[in-house]
Amino acid sequence: MNSHDVVIVGSGLAGLRAAMELVGHLDVAVVTKVYPSRSHSGAAQGGVAASLGNVDDDSVEAHIYDTVKGADYLGDQDSIEILCGDAPRTIYEMEHLGCAFSRTEENKINQRAFGGHSAQRACFSADRTGHALLHTLFEQSYKQRGKLQIYSEWHMNRLIVEDGVCRGVVVMDIRTSKLEVLQAKAVLFASGGYGQAFKITSNAAANTGDGIVAAYRAGVPLQDMEFVQFHPTGLYQHGILLTEGARGEGGYLINEDGDRFMSKYAPSKMELGPRDIVSRSEQTEINEGRGAGPNKDYVLLDLRHLGRAKIMERLPQVFHLAQDFIGVDCIEKPVPIQPTAHYSMGGIPADNDCQVYLDDKGAHVTGFFAAGECSCISVHGANRLGTNSLLEALVFGRRAGKKMLDVVPGLQLAPVDEERELAAARREIDELYAGDGTEDISVIREELKQTMTLQAGVYRDASRMEPAQTKLDQLRKRFAKVCVKDQGKSFNFNLLEALELSNMLEYSELIVDGGLARQESRGAHFRTDYPTRDDENWMKHTMAFRTEDGGHELRYKPVKVTRFEPEERKY
Ligand code: FUM
Repeated sequence: MNSHDVVIVGSGLAGLRAAMELVGHLDVAVVTKVYPSRSHSGAAQGGVAASLGNVDDDSVEAHIYDTVKGADYLGDQDSIEILCGDAPRTIYEMEHLGCAFSRTEENKINQRAFGGHSAQRACFSADRTGHALLHTLFEQSYKQRGKLQIYSEWHMNRLIVEDGVCRGVVVMDIRTSKLEVLQAKAVLFASGGYGQAFKITSNAAANTGDGIVAAYRAGVPLQDMEFVQFHPTGLYQHGILLTEGARGEGGYLINEDGDRFMSKYAPSKMELGPRDIVSRSEQTEINEGRGAGPNKDYVLLDLRHLGRAKIMERLPQVFHLAQDFIGVDCIEKPVPIQPTAHYSMGGIPADNDCQVYLDDKGAHVTGFFAAGECSCISVHGANRLGTNSLLEALVFGRRAGKKMLDVVPGLQLAPVDEERELAAARREIDELYAGDGTEDISVIREELKQTMTLQAGVYRDASRMEPAQTKLDQLRKRFAKVCVKDQGKSFNFNLLEALELSNMLEYSELIVDGGLARQESRGAHFRTDYPTRDDENWMKHTMAFRTEDGGHELRYKPVKVTRFEPEERKY
Protein backbone atom coordinates (compact mmCIF):
# COMPACT_ATOMS: atom_id res chain seq x y z
CA MET A 1 0.00 0.00 0.00
CA ASN A 2 1.37 3.41 -0.98
CA SER A 3 0.84 6.39 1.28
CA HIS A 4 0.81 10.12 0.57
CA ASP A 5 -0.07 13.15 2.64
CA VAL A 6 -2.54 14.23 -0.04
CA VAL A 7 -4.06 12.37 -2.97
CA ILE A 8 -5.77 14.51 -5.62
CA VAL A 9 -8.11 12.72 -8.02
CA GLY A 10 -8.30 14.63 -11.30
CA SER A 11 -5.71 16.60 -13.25
CA GLY A 12 -7.81 19.42 -14.69
CA LEU A 13 -7.53 23.02 -13.56
CA ALA A 14 -8.87 22.45 -10.04
CA GLY A 15 -6.66 19.45 -9.34
CA LEU A 16 -3.44 20.91 -10.77
CA ARG A 17 -4.04 24.30 -9.14
CA ALA A 18 -4.46 22.61 -5.76
CA ALA A 19 -1.34 20.52 -6.38
CA MET A 20 0.68 23.69 -7.09
CA GLU A 21 -0.21 25.00 -3.66
CA LEU A 22 0.95 21.83 -1.91
CA VAL A 23 3.96 20.59 -3.81
CA GLY A 24 7.22 21.16 -1.98
CA HIS A 25 5.39 21.32 1.35
CA LEU A 26 3.59 17.98 1.51
CA ASP A 27 3.90 14.61 -0.20
CA VAL A 28 1.24 15.00 -2.88
CA ALA A 29 0.07 12.67 -5.64
CA VAL A 30 -2.35 13.27 -8.53
CA VAL A 31 -4.38 10.34 -9.84
CA THR A 32 -5.86 10.82 -13.31
CA LYS A 33 -7.79 8.58 -15.65
CA VAL A 34 -6.22 10.34 -18.64
CA TYR A 35 -2.88 12.01 -19.28
CA PRO A 36 -3.06 15.42 -17.47
CA SER A 37 -2.94 17.55 -20.61
CA ARG A 38 -6.01 15.66 -21.90
CA SER A 39 -8.16 16.62 -18.91
CA HIS A 40 -11.56 18.01 -19.81
CA SER A 41 -10.71 21.58 -18.62
CA GLY A 42 -8.80 21.77 -21.89
CA ALA A 43 -12.07 21.54 -23.82
CA ALA A 44 -13.37 24.86 -22.47
CA GLN A 45 -13.10 27.37 -25.23
CA GLY A 46 -14.46 30.87 -24.91
CA GLY A 47 -13.05 32.40 -21.76
CA VAL A 48 -12.59 32.79 -18.03
CA ALA A 49 -14.53 35.51 -16.25
CA ALA A 50 -13.05 38.40 -14.23
CA SER A 51 -14.08 42.01 -13.81
CA LEU A 52 -10.80 43.49 -15.05
CA GLY A 53 -12.59 46.30 -16.84
CA ASN A 54 -10.11 46.25 -19.73
CA VAL A 55 -12.59 46.85 -22.55
CA ASP A 56 -15.79 47.71 -20.72
CA ASP A 57 -16.86 49.29 -17.43
CA ASP A 58 -17.19 46.55 -14.90
CA SER A 59 -17.12 45.79 -11.19
CA VAL A 60 -16.89 42.78 -8.93
CA GLU A 61 -20.33 43.73 -7.61
CA ALA A 62 -21.78 43.46 -11.15
CA HIS A 63 -20.12 40.08 -11.63
CA ILE A 64 -21.62 38.86 -8.35
CA TYR A 65 -25.07 40.13 -9.29
CA ASP A 66 -24.95 38.58 -12.78
CA THR A 67 -23.89 35.24 -11.28
CA VAL A 68 -26.62 35.26 -8.62
CA LYS A 69 -29.25 36.15 -11.21
CA GLY A 70 -27.85 33.69 -13.77
CA ALA A 71 -28.02 30.97 -11.09
CA ASP A 72 -31.75 31.74 -10.74
CA TYR A 73 -31.18 32.49 -7.05
CA LEU A 74 -30.15 28.96 -6.12
CA GLY A 75 -26.45 29.84 -5.77
CA ASP A 76 -24.99 30.37 -2.30
CA GLN A 77 -24.17 34.05 -2.34
CA ASP A 78 -21.31 33.95 0.17
CA SER A 79 -19.51 31.53 -2.17
CA ILE A 80 -20.33 33.61 -5.24
CA GLU A 81 -18.78 36.66 -3.53
CA ILE A 82 -15.55 34.69 -3.10
CA LEU A 83 -15.62 33.45 -6.70
CA CYS A 84 -16.07 36.87 -8.27
CA GLY A 85 -13.97 38.75 -5.71
CA ASP A 86 -10.94 36.54 -6.34
CA ALA A 87 -11.31 36.56 -10.14
CA PRO A 88 -9.01 39.49 -11.08
CA ARG A 89 -6.17 38.16 -8.90
CA THR A 90 -6.64 34.72 -10.40
CA ILE A 91 -6.31 35.98 -13.98
CA TYR A 92 -3.14 37.95 -13.28
CA GLU A 93 -1.70 34.96 -11.46
CA MET A 94 -2.33 32.73 -14.47
CA GLU A 95 -0.87 35.37 -16.79
CA HIS A 96 2.27 35.57 -14.65
CA LEU A 97 2.52 31.78 -14.68
CA GLY A 98 2.68 31.95 -18.47
CA CYS A 99 -0.85 31.77 -19.84
CA ALA A 100 -0.93 33.51 -23.23
CA PHE A 101 -4.18 35.49 -23.15
CA SER A 102 -5.32 37.33 -26.30
CA ARG A 103 -4.50 41.05 -26.03
CA THR A 104 -6.12 44.42 -26.80
CA GLU A 105 -4.45 47.06 -29.00
CA GLU A 106 -3.00 48.53 -25.77
CA ASN A 107 -1.62 45.10 -24.92
CA LYS A 108 -4.02 44.53 -22.06
CA ILE A 109 -5.74 41.17 -21.60
CA ASN A 110 -8.63 41.24 -24.06
CA GLN A 111 -12.16 40.49 -22.84
CA ARG A 112 -15.19 39.43 -24.85
CA ALA A 113 -18.91 39.35 -24.17
CA PHE A 114 -20.55 36.16 -22.87
CA GLY A 115 -24.11 35.10 -22.12
CA GLY A 116 -25.74 36.50 -18.99
CA HIS A 117 -22.80 38.80 -18.17
CA SER A 118 -23.59 42.53 -18.16
CA ALA A 119 -20.03 43.50 -19.20
CA GLN A 120 -17.31 42.14 -21.44
CA ARG A 121 -15.45 40.13 -18.83
CA ALA A 122 -14.42 36.88 -20.53
CA CYS A 123 -10.60 36.82 -20.70
CA PHE A 124 -9.68 34.52 -23.56
CA SER A 125 -6.95 32.85 -25.59
CA ALA A 126 -8.63 32.84 -29.01
CA ASP A 127 -11.16 29.99 -28.57
CA ARG A 128 -8.76 27.69 -26.74
CA THR A 129 -8.83 29.25 -23.29
CA GLY A 130 -9.17 26.05 -21.27
CA HIS A 131 -6.36 24.51 -23.29
CA ALA A 132 -4.08 27.50 -22.62
CA LEU A 133 -4.84 27.50 -18.88
CA LEU A 134 -4.48 23.73 -18.55
CA HIS A 135 -1.13 23.68 -20.31
CA THR A 136 0.09 26.54 -18.13
CA LEU A 137 -0.66 24.55 -14.99
CA PHE A 138 0.63 21.32 -16.50
CA GLU A 139 3.94 23.05 -17.27
CA GLN A 140 4.07 24.28 -13.69
CA SER A 141 3.43 20.80 -12.33
CA TYR A 142 5.94 19.30 -14.76
CA LYS A 143 8.52 21.68 -13.34
CA GLN A 144 7.91 19.92 -10.03
CA ARG A 145 8.55 16.42 -11.33
CA GLY A 146 10.33 14.43 -8.70
CA LYS A 147 8.28 16.23 -6.05
CA LEU A 148 4.81 15.63 -7.47
CA GLN A 149 3.84 12.06 -8.25
CA ILE A 150 1.33 11.74 -11.08
CA TYR A 151 -0.51 8.46 -11.52
CA SER A 152 -1.49 8.92 -15.18
CA GLU A 153 -4.11 6.56 -16.59
CA TRP A 154 -5.24 5.23 -13.25
CA HIS A 155 -8.93 4.80 -12.53
CA MET A 156 -10.26 5.65 -9.07
CA ASN A 157 -12.59 2.81 -7.97
CA ARG A 158 -13.44 3.61 -4.36
CA LEU A 159 -13.19 6.32 -1.76
CA ILE A 160 -12.37 5.04 1.71
CA VAL A 161 -14.33 6.79 4.48
CA GLU A 162 -14.79 5.25 7.89
CA ASP A 163 -16.26 6.87 11.01
CA GLY A 164 -16.49 10.19 9.18
CA VAL A 165 -12.75 10.15 8.36
CA CYS A 166 -11.40 9.94 4.82
CA ARG A 167 -8.51 7.48 4.64
CA GLY A 168 -7.59 7.18 0.98
CA VAL A 169 -8.76 5.67 -2.30
CA VAL A 170 -8.65 2.37 -4.13
CA VAL A 171 -7.29 2.85 -7.63
CA MET A 172 -6.66 0.68 -10.67
CA ASP A 173 -3.73 1.01 -13.06
CA ILE A 174 -5.42 0.99 -16.46
CA ARG A 175 -2.24 -0.33 -18.07
CA THR A 176 -2.20 -3.50 -15.96
CA SER A 177 -5.63 -3.66 -14.21
CA LYS A 178 -3.77 -3.91 -10.91
CA LEU A 179 -5.70 -2.59 -7.92
CA GLU A 180 -3.92 -0.60 -5.24
CA VAL A 181 -4.83 1.27 -2.11
CA LEU A 182 -3.47 4.80 -1.79
CA GLN A 183 -3.65 5.78 1.84
CA ALA A 184 -3.77 9.53 2.50
CA LYS A 185 -4.25 12.07 5.26
CA ALA A 186 -6.46 14.00 2.86
CA VAL A 187 -8.09 13.35 -0.49
CA LEU A 188 -9.22 16.04 -2.92
CA PHE A 189 -11.69 15.09 -5.63
CA ALA A 190 -11.33 17.33 -8.69
CA SER A 191 -12.72 14.65 -10.93
CA GLY A 192 -15.08 16.61 -13.21
CA GLY A 193 -18.71 16.35 -14.17
CA TYR A 194 -21.29 13.82 -15.28
CA GLY A 195 -22.52 14.84 -18.73
CA GLN A 196 -21.76 11.47 -20.30
CA ALA A 197 -25.17 10.18 -19.22
CA PHE A 198 -26.65 12.18 -22.11
CA LYS A 199 -26.63 11.24 -25.78
CA ILE A 200 -25.85 14.73 -27.05
CA THR A 201 -23.07 16.08 -24.85
CA SER A 202 -20.01 18.27 -25.08
CA ASN A 203 -18.39 16.26 -22.30
CA ALA A 204 -15.28 14.16 -22.81
CA ALA A 205 -15.73 10.38 -22.74
CA ALA A 206 -14.04 10.38 -19.34
CA ASN A 207 -16.80 12.47 -17.69
CA THR A 208 -18.73 9.59 -16.18
CA GLY A 209 -19.14 10.95 -12.66
CA ASP A 210 -16.64 8.54 -11.10
CA GLY A 211 -15.77 10.95 -8.30
CA ILE A 212 -19.28 11.87 -7.32
CA VAL A 213 -20.45 8.25 -7.29
CA ALA A 214 -17.43 7.08 -5.26
CA ALA A 215 -18.20 9.81 -2.72
CA TYR A 216 -21.90 8.89 -2.70
CA ARG A 217 -21.20 5.20 -2.21
CA ALA A 218 -18.90 6.11 0.67
CA GLY A 219 -21.80 7.84 2.45
CA VAL A 220 -21.49 11.44 1.23
CA PRO A 221 -24.74 13.05 0.04
CA LEU A 222 -24.92 14.62 -3.43
CA GLN A 223 -26.36 18.09 -3.92
CA ASP A 224 -28.61 19.55 -6.64
CA MET A 225 -28.03 16.68 -9.04
CA GLU A 226 -31.13 17.55 -11.08
CA PHE A 227 -29.43 20.67 -12.44
CA VAL A 228 -27.70 19.83 -15.72
CA GLN A 229 -26.79 22.64 -18.08
CA PHE A 230 -27.43 22.44 -21.81
CA HIS A 231 -25.13 24.59 -23.89
CA PRO A 232 -26.93 26.20 -26.84
CA THR A 233 -24.30 25.55 -29.48
CA GLY A 234 -23.41 21.90 -29.65
CA LEU A 235 -22.39 20.75 -33.11
CA TYR A 236 -25.42 19.01 -34.60
CA GLN A 237 -25.58 15.29 -33.78
CA HIS A 238 -22.07 15.31 -32.26
CA GLY A 239 -22.72 17.62 -29.31
CA ILE A 240 -19.17 18.97 -29.56
CA LEU A 241 -18.88 22.45 -28.09
CA LEU A 242 -18.84 25.43 -30.41
CA THR A 243 -17.99 28.22 -28.06
CA GLU A 244 -20.44 30.81 -26.82
CA GLY A 245 -17.55 33.14 -27.66
CA ALA A 246 -18.80 32.83 -31.25
CA ARG A 247 -21.90 34.74 -30.17
CA GLY A 248 -19.74 36.96 -27.95
CA GLU A 249 -17.90 37.96 -31.12
CA GLY A 250 -21.21 38.80 -32.81
CA GLY A 251 -22.52 35.48 -34.16
CA TYR A 252 -26.27 35.07 -34.72
CA LEU A 253 -28.67 32.23 -34.03
CA ILE A 254 -31.18 31.74 -36.83
CA ASN A 255 -33.97 29.31 -37.59
CA GLU A 256 -35.00 27.70 -40.88
CA ASP A 257 -36.48 31.00 -42.10
CA GLY A 258 -33.32 32.94 -41.29
CA ASP A 259 -34.99 34.74 -38.34
CA ARG A 260 -32.91 35.75 -35.34
CA PHE A 261 -35.40 34.07 -33.06
CA MET A 262 -33.80 35.25 -29.79
CA SER A 263 -35.59 38.58 -30.27
CA LYS A 264 -38.73 36.78 -29.07
CA TYR A 265 -37.20 35.19 -26.00
CA ALA A 266 -34.53 37.57 -24.63
CA PRO A 267 -34.97 40.86 -26.50
CA SER A 268 -32.42 42.86 -24.53
CA LYS A 269 -29.68 40.23 -24.64
CA MET A 270 -30.52 38.39 -27.86
CA GLU A 271 -27.95 35.61 -28.48
CA LEU A 272 -26.16 36.58 -25.26
CA GLY A 273 -28.94 35.53 -22.94
CA PRO A 274 -27.96 32.93 -20.32
CA ARG A 275 -27.58 29.36 -21.54
CA ASP A 276 -30.74 27.92 -20.01
CA ILE A 277 -32.90 30.49 -21.77
CA VAL A 278 -31.07 30.27 -25.11
CA SER A 279 -31.15 26.45 -25.12
CA ARG A 280 -34.87 26.41 -24.38
CA SER A 281 -35.49 29.00 -27.10
CA GLU A 282 -33.70 26.79 -29.63
CA GLN A 283 -35.64 23.75 -28.49
CA THR A 284 -38.91 25.68 -28.79
CA GLU A 285 -38.04 26.69 -32.35
CA ILE A 286 -37.34 23.04 -33.17
CA ASN A 287 -40.42 21.73 -31.34
CA GLU A 288 -42.67 24.24 -33.09
CA GLY A 289 -41.44 23.27 -36.55
CA ARG A 290 -39.04 26.13 -37.30
CA GLY A 291 -35.92 23.99 -37.10
CA ALA A 292 -33.67 23.60 -40.14
CA GLY A 293 -32.65 20.56 -42.17
CA PRO A 294 -34.66 17.64 -43.58
CA ASN A 295 -35.85 16.65 -40.11
CA LYS A 296 -36.18 20.22 -38.87
CA ASP A 297 -34.21 19.17 -35.79
CA TYR A 298 -31.51 21.80 -35.55
CA VAL A 299 -31.04 25.57 -35.69
CA LEU A 300 -28.10 27.49 -37.12
CA LEU A 301 -25.13 29.46 -35.84
CA ASP A 302 -24.45 32.15 -38.42
CA LEU A 303 -20.94 33.64 -38.42
CA ARG A 304 -20.74 34.66 -42.07
CA HIS A 305 -20.96 38.39 -41.36
CA LEU A 306 -17.91 38.22 -39.07
CA GLY A 307 -15.66 37.55 -42.04
CA ARG A 308 -12.70 35.25 -42.53
CA ALA A 309 -10.10 37.38 -40.73
CA LYS A 310 -12.04 37.66 -37.49
CA ILE A 311 -13.13 34.04 -37.53
CA MET A 312 -9.59 32.79 -38.07
CA GLU A 313 -8.15 35.09 -35.42
CA ARG A 314 -10.77 34.71 -32.69
CA LEU A 315 -12.57 31.46 -33.49
CA PRO A 316 -10.15 29.15 -35.29
CA GLN A 317 -11.27 26.09 -33.39
CA VAL A 318 -14.93 26.71 -34.25
CA PHE A 319 -13.90 26.88 -37.89
CA HIS A 320 -11.99 23.60 -37.73
CA LEU A 321 -14.59 21.69 -35.68
CA ALA A 322 -17.39 22.59 -38.11
CA GLN A 323 -15.19 21.78 -41.08
CA ASP A 324 -13.72 18.53 -39.76
CA PHE A 325 -16.80 16.99 -38.15
CA ILE A 326 -19.66 17.98 -40.44
CA GLY A 327 -17.92 19.48 -43.45
CA VAL A 328 -19.39 22.97 -43.07
CA ASP A 329 -17.24 26.01 -43.86
CA CYS A 330 -18.56 28.55 -41.33
CA ILE A 331 -17.11 31.44 -43.31
CA GLU A 332 -19.51 30.58 -46.13
CA LYS A 333 -22.41 28.81 -44.44
CA PRO A 334 -24.30 28.77 -41.13
CA VAL A 335 -23.45 25.82 -38.90
CA PRO A 336 -26.11 23.30 -37.71
CA ILE A 337 -26.26 23.29 -33.93
CA GLN A 338 -28.44 21.97 -31.10
CA PRO A 339 -28.45 22.12 -27.29
CA THR A 340 -25.85 19.81 -25.77
CA ALA A 341 -25.46 18.55 -22.18
CA HIS A 342 -22.51 20.61 -21.06
CA TYR A 343 -22.13 21.18 -17.35
CA SER A 344 -23.09 19.53 -14.09
CA MET A 345 -24.24 22.10 -11.56
CA GLY A 346 -24.79 19.37 -8.96
CA GLY A 347 -22.16 17.35 -7.19
CA ILE A 348 -20.34 16.81 -3.91
CA PRO A 349 -21.43 19.41 -1.35
CA ALA A 350 -18.53 21.42 0.04
CA ASP A 351 -17.88 24.63 1.96
CA ASN A 352 -15.90 27.64 0.78
CA ASP A 353 -12.62 25.88 1.60
CA CYS A 354 -13.77 22.82 -0.36
CA GLN A 355 -14.24 20.69 2.77
CA VAL A 356 -16.91 18.13 1.99
CA TYR A 357 -20.14 17.97 3.97
CA LEU A 358 -21.25 14.68 5.47
CA ASP A 359 -24.85 15.75 6.03
CA ASP A 360 -27.37 18.55 5.57
CA LYS A 361 -26.56 20.11 8.96
CA GLY A 362 -22.97 21.20 8.30
CA ALA A 363 -20.86 18.27 9.60
CA HIS A 364 -17.75 17.55 7.50
CA VAL A 365 -15.94 14.42 6.39
CA THR A 366 -12.52 14.83 7.98
CA GLY A 367 -9.80 15.01 5.33
CA PHE A 368 -12.08 14.97 2.28
CA PHE A 369 -12.17 17.90 -0.14
CA ALA A 370 -13.85 18.58 -3.49
CA ALA A 371 -13.26 21.33 -6.07
CA GLY A 372 -14.21 22.12 -9.65
CA GLU A 373 -17.11 20.59 -11.54
CA CYS A 374 -17.49 17.52 -9.31
CA SER A 375 -18.16 19.81 -6.34
CA CYS A 376 -21.30 21.73 -5.49
CA ILE A 377 -20.16 24.69 -3.41
CA SER A 378 -22.65 26.09 -4.88
CA VAL A 379 -21.52 29.03 -7.00
CA HIS A 380 -23.60 28.20 -10.05
CA GLY A 381 -26.94 27.38 -8.43
CA ALA A 382 -29.49 26.33 -11.03
CA ASN A 383 -27.62 27.62 -14.08
CA ARG A 384 -23.94 28.46 -14.58
CA LEU A 385 -22.85 31.50 -16.53
CA GLY A 386 -20.34 30.68 -19.25
CA THR A 387 -16.70 31.39 -18.20
CA ASN A 388 -17.47 30.99 -14.50
CA SER A 389 -16.41 27.34 -14.60
CA LEU A 390 -12.73 27.81 -15.43
CA LEU A 391 -12.77 30.55 -12.83
CA GLU A 392 -14.33 28.29 -10.21
CA ALA A 393 -11.77 25.55 -10.85
CA LEU A 394 -8.87 27.99 -10.40
CA VAL A 395 -10.27 29.89 -7.41
CA PHE A 396 -11.47 26.87 -5.46
CA GLY A 397 -8.59 24.59 -6.51
CA ARG A 398 -6.27 27.13 -4.89
CA ARG A 399 -8.48 27.44 -1.82
CA ALA A 400 -8.58 23.66 -1.41
CA GLY A 401 -4.77 23.59 -1.63
CA LYS A 402 -4.41 26.34 0.95
CA LYS A 403 -6.82 24.69 3.36
CA MET A 404 -5.10 21.32 3.03
CA LEU A 405 -1.75 22.97 3.66
CA ASP A 406 -3.25 24.35 6.82
CA VAL A 407 -4.95 21.22 8.18
CA VAL A 408 -3.08 18.20 6.79
CA PRO A 409 0.06 18.61 8.94
CA GLY A 410 -2.24 18.17 11.97
CA LEU A 411 -3.79 14.96 10.63
CA GLN A 412 -2.51 11.40 11.03
CA LEU A 413 -2.70 8.66 8.42
CA ALA A 414 -5.85 6.87 9.55
CA PRO A 415 -5.62 3.06 9.50
CA VAL A 416 -6.89 1.32 6.36
CA ASP A 417 -7.84 -2.35 6.14
CA GLU A 418 -6.06 -2.87 2.84
CA GLU A 419 -7.24 -6.45 2.30
CA ARG A 420 -10.86 -5.52 2.89
CA GLU A 421 -10.72 -2.49 0.57
CA LEU A 422 -9.04 -4.42 -2.23
CA ALA A 423 -11.54 -7.25 -1.80
CA ALA A 424 -14.46 -4.83 -2.10
CA ALA A 425 -13.04 -3.34 -5.33
CA ARG A 426 -12.25 -6.82 -6.65
CA ARG A 427 -15.80 -7.97 -5.84
CA GLU A 428 -17.30 -5.19 -7.94
CA ILE A 429 -15.08 -6.22 -10.86
CA ASP A 430 -15.79 -9.93 -10.39
CA GLU A 431 -19.53 -9.24 -10.53
CA LEU A 432 -19.01 -7.56 -13.90
CA TYR A 433 -17.35 -10.72 -15.18
CA ALA A 434 -19.96 -13.00 -13.62
CA GLY A 435 -23.08 -11.74 -15.44
CA ASP A 436 -24.76 -14.23 -17.77
CA GLY A 437 -23.89 -11.98 -20.73
CA THR A 438 -27.45 -11.73 -22.00
CA GLU A 439 -27.11 -7.96 -21.84
CA ASP A 440 -24.63 -5.74 -23.62
CA ILE A 441 -22.81 -2.79 -22.05
CA SER A 442 -22.99 -0.60 -25.14
CA VAL A 443 -26.74 -1.25 -25.63
CA ILE A 444 -27.53 -0.29 -22.04
CA ARG A 445 -25.33 2.80 -22.27
CA GLU A 446 -27.06 3.88 -25.47
CA GLU A 447 -30.53 3.39 -23.99
CA LEU A 448 -29.50 5.33 -20.91
CA LYS A 449 -28.23 8.24 -23.00
CA GLN A 450 -31.37 8.31 -25.14
CA THR A 451 -33.58 8.25 -22.07
CA MET A 452 -31.73 11.07 -20.36
CA THR A 453 -31.63 13.31 -23.43
CA LEU A 454 -35.26 12.79 -24.41
CA GLN A 455 -36.86 12.49 -20.99
CA ALA A 456 -34.70 14.53 -18.63
CA GLY A 457 -33.31 17.09 -21.06
CA VAL A 458 -33.96 20.72 -21.90
CA TYR A 459 -37.69 20.38 -21.23
CA ARG A 460 -39.00 18.06 -18.56
CA ASP A 461 -42.35 17.03 -17.10
CA ALA A 462 -43.79 14.18 -15.08
CA SER A 463 -45.10 12.40 -18.16
CA ARG A 464 -41.52 12.06 -19.41
CA MET A 465 -39.65 11.70 -16.14
CA GLU A 466 -41.87 9.05 -14.55
CA PRO A 467 -41.30 6.61 -17.42
CA ALA A 468 -37.61 7.58 -17.28
CA GLN A 469 -37.57 6.49 -13.63
CA THR A 470 -39.00 3.10 -14.59
CA LYS A 471 -36.58 2.79 -17.48
CA LEU A 472 -33.56 3.54 -15.29
CA ASP A 473 -34.72 0.93 -12.81
CA GLN A 474 -34.96 -1.61 -15.61
CA LEU A 475 -31.57 -0.64 -16.96
CA ARG A 476 -29.97 -1.19 -13.56
CA LYS A 477 -31.53 -4.64 -13.36
CA ARG A 478 -30.38 -5.45 -16.89
CA PHE A 479 -26.91 -4.18 -16.02
CA ALA A 480 -26.60 -7.08 -13.55
CA LYS A 481 -26.60 -9.38 -16.58
CA VAL A 482 -23.79 -7.77 -18.54
CA CYS A 483 -20.58 -9.69 -18.79
CA VAL A 484 -17.18 -8.13 -19.38
CA LYS A 485 -15.89 -10.31 -22.19
CA ASP A 486 -12.31 -9.07 -22.37
CA GLN A 487 -10.28 -11.13 -19.90
CA GLY A 488 -7.12 -9.16 -20.68
CA LYS A 489 -5.25 -7.14 -18.10
CA SER A 490 -3.73 -4.46 -20.30
CA PHE A 491 -5.82 -1.40 -21.17
CA ASN A 492 -9.04 -3.31 -20.61
CA PHE A 493 -11.51 -0.69 -21.80
CA ASN A 494 -14.31 -3.22 -21.76
CA LEU A 495 -13.93 -3.39 -17.97
CA LEU A 496 -13.44 0.36 -17.66
CA GLU A 497 -16.63 1.04 -19.61
CA ALA A 498 -18.56 -1.32 -17.36
CA LEU A 499 -17.30 0.45 -14.23
CA GLU A 500 -18.20 3.80 -15.77
CA LEU A 501 -21.66 2.65 -16.82
CA SER A 502 -22.35 1.47 -13.30
CA ASN A 503 -21.59 5.03 -12.12
CA MET A 504 -23.72 6.60 -14.85
CA LEU A 505 -26.73 4.45 -13.98
CA GLU A 506 -26.43 5.32 -10.31
CA TYR A 507 -26.23 9.11 -10.65
CA SER A 508 -28.80 9.32 -13.48
CA GLU A 509 -31.45 8.18 -11.01
CA LEU A 510 -30.62 11.16 -8.84
CA ILE A 511 -30.98 13.56 -11.79
CA VAL A 512 -34.42 12.17 -12.62
CA ASP A 513 -35.72 11.69 -9.07
CA GLY A 514 -34.44 15.09 -7.94
CA GLY A 515 -36.07 16.62 -11.01
CA LEU A 516 -39.38 14.87 -10.42
CA ALA A 517 -39.46 15.94 -6.80
CA ARG A 518 -38.68 19.57 -7.65
CA GLN A 519 -42.09 20.81 -8.76
CA GLU A 520 -41.02 24.13 -10.19
CA SER A 521 -38.87 25.55 -13.01
CA ARG A 522 -35.55 27.13 -12.06
CA GLY A 523 -32.52 27.70 -14.24
CA ALA A 524 -31.63 24.65 -16.28
CA HIS A 525 -34.41 22.58 -14.68
CA PHE A 526 -37.51 23.50 -16.66
CA ARG A 527 -40.76 21.62 -16.13
CA THR A 528 -43.53 22.30 -18.60
CA ASP A 529 -46.00 21.04 -15.97
CA TYR A 530 -44.63 23.52 -13.36
CA PRO A 531 -43.39 26.35 -15.60
CA THR A 532 -42.70 28.98 -12.93
CA ARG A 533 -40.13 29.38 -10.20
CA ASP A 534 -41.54 28.77 -6.73
CA ASP A 535 -39.34 30.52 -4.16
CA GLU A 536 -41.71 29.85 -1.33
CA ASN A 537 -41.37 26.09 -1.56
CA TRP A 538 -38.29 25.42 -3.64
CA MET A 539 -35.59 27.96 -2.95
CA LYS A 540 -33.56 25.19 -1.36
CA HIS A 541 -30.83 22.74 -2.26
CA THR A 542 -31.61 19.08 -2.86
CA MET A 543 -29.45 16.64 -0.88
CA ALA A 544 -29.58 12.98 -1.99
CA PHE A 545 -28.46 10.42 0.60
CA ARG A 546 -27.75 6.83 -0.37
CA THR A 547 -29.70 4.28 1.66
CA GLU A 548 -28.49 0.83 2.74
CA ASP A 549 -30.50 -0.91 0.01
CA GLY A 550 -28.82 1.13 -2.74
CA GLY A 551 -31.78 3.52 -3.07
CA HIS A 552 -31.80 7.11 -1.91
CA GLU A 553 -33.56 9.63 0.27
CA LEU A 554 -33.97 13.29 -0.68
CA ARG A 555 -33.60 16.01 1.93
CA TYR A 556 -33.24 19.75 1.50
CA LYS A 557 -31.16 22.59 2.91
CA PRO A 558 -31.51 26.37 2.63
CA VAL A 559 -29.78 28.60 0.10
CA LYS A 560 -27.43 31.26 1.54
CA VAL A 561 -28.57 34.76 0.63
CA THR A 562 -26.23 37.61 1.56
CA ARG A 563 -27.19 40.62 -0.54
CA PHE A 564 -29.56 39.89 -3.42
CA GLU A 565 -33.12 38.88 -2.62
CA PRO A 566 -34.74 36.87 -5.42
CA GLU A 567 -36.50 38.84 -8.12
CA GLU A 568 -38.04 37.99 -11.46
CA ARG A 569 -35.35 36.95 -13.92
CA LYS A 570 -35.71 38.90 -17.17
CA TYR A 571 -33.23 39.51 -19.99
O1 FUM B 1 -18.89 28.27 -24.74
C1 FUM B 1 -17.84 28.11 -24.15
O2 FUM B 1 -16.79 28.53 -24.58
C2 FUM B 1 -17.87 27.41 -22.86
C3 FUM B 1 -17.40 27.99 -21.79
C4 FUM B 1 -17.87 27.57 -20.47
O3 FUM B 1 -18.60 26.58 -20.37
O4 FUM B 1 -17.55 28.24 -19.49
